[in-house]
Amino acid sequence: MHSFRYHDGAQHCEGVSLASLADQYGTPLYVYSAETLLDHFGKLQRAFHEVLGLICFSVKANSNLSVLKLLHEAGSGFDIVSGGELERIRTLGIPGEKVVFAGVGKSQPEIEAALRYGVRMLNVESEAELVSVDATAKKLGLRAPVALRLNPDVASKTHPYITTGKKENKFGVDLDTASRLVERLGRDFPAVDLVGIHVHVGSQITEAAPFLQGIRNVAPFLAQARAQRPELALFDIGGGFGIWYSDQQALTADVLAQDLVPELKKIGLKVVMEPGRFIAGNAGVMLTRVRYVKRNASKRFVIVDADMNDLMRPSFYKAYHGIWPTRLDPHTMPGPDALEDSGLGRADIVGPICESGGFLGLDRPFPEVAPGDLLTVFSTGAYGFSMASNYNTRPRAAELLVHGAHHRLVRRRETIDDLLKLERDALGAP
Ligand code: LLP
Repeated sequence: MHSFRYHDGAQHCEGVSLASLADQYGTPLYVYSAETLLDHFGKLQRAFHEVLGLICFSVKANSNLSVLKLLHEAGSGFDIVSGGELERIRTLGIPGEKVVFAGVGKSQPEIEAALRYGVRMLNVESEAELVSVDATAKKLGLRAPVALRLNPDVASKTHPYITTGKKENKFGVDLDTASRLVERLGRDFPAVDLVGIHVHVGSQITEAAPFLQGIRNVAPFLAQARAQRPELALFDIGGGFGIWYSDQQALTADVLAQDLVPELKKIGLKVVMEPGRFIAGNAGVMLTRVRYVKRNASKRFVIVDADMNDLMRPSFYKAYHGIWPTRLDPHTMPGPDALEDSGLGRADIVGPICESGGFLGLDRPFPEVAPGDLLTVFSTGAYGFSMASNYNTRPRAAELLVHGAHHRLVRRRETIDDLLKLERDALGAP
């Protein structure tokens, strides 16, 4: 489900008209629905309840403090990948036992901060990192709860940049290396407790098979590791559950659970999962306003005020996001396969950035629009704002959180001054 609906002749987020928000806060503007965030979290929780230890929302997908607070209050844990994300967790006073820390290249200060904070586990991706974690724990006089990240060597039909579970990817350790590390744990890494095993197959996976394969590939290893390390209690299956971007059929939590839960039950460990996109992707839209419309011999360009710095996914992954005038019912929006049938003229929806790669959508059947018209870019609640940049010295957009008839500004729009102040002081220096 999602809470972006069309009624009274206008698109709404829950009870609030999107056009009214754009009028009040300007564009580009990210708008999130609390109802959808909570609904998706609840669906996963219910579907996997038989095996579930903890859902850890993947902070990288949407790291806004108010979004994290909302999910924390609903009972979510968090998957973090940097010291910066840990500071977000600390700011909200979220207990360490609700946090798992992943990533191939954790720095020494990051490892130290995570151990001091008492995170539930550090997901370790190499022998070198294990050495570092063990040494840091000894220095601090702490135990280091660790999950070994395995590379399950599974292919998945997703963009090559977001597949992570193949053996040629940089993530995790292969099963042989993992077996050797487990044997050496007590002797060579005395400050480490192996509390978990972690796998993550990839992102935006819209079928159950790769997840199942990943679980099956590591099951024999898990059984062996458990026999050797009685403290092993958690199986972190990562994230990656795909969503509907209007060109893919995604699985519901129930369908996914039907396939995965029986397999996870056989393993018998409490499950941790790290969904990001599944919870947040369809819980957000980005609003942008048309600045100009221009035509050449073969094309119509709708030039809007948002670009690849605000939403990087179309340029970076050729990702498809539905885009539709905010005054129209999105159900009338032709999907990517309907180019020929829609009868609408085509358009490229592009932004002001000085790059041909700066676009939100290419070759779309698109209604006639005029300067000042507002457009909604759908499914941008995950990896939208969190991947935004200041390229072309463009301040980042504002973010709003809607709940029922209410809304809150949860990140103010950046100003040019915000951007320049980090450099201004250096001007006077020799
Ligand atoms: N856990 C680990 C270890 C991950 O690497 C990721 C995502 C997740 C969980 C969350 O994955 P999700 O459930 O959101 O698919 N920027 C890309 C996605 C990159 C995902 C990176 N890792 C995009 O915009 O599609």
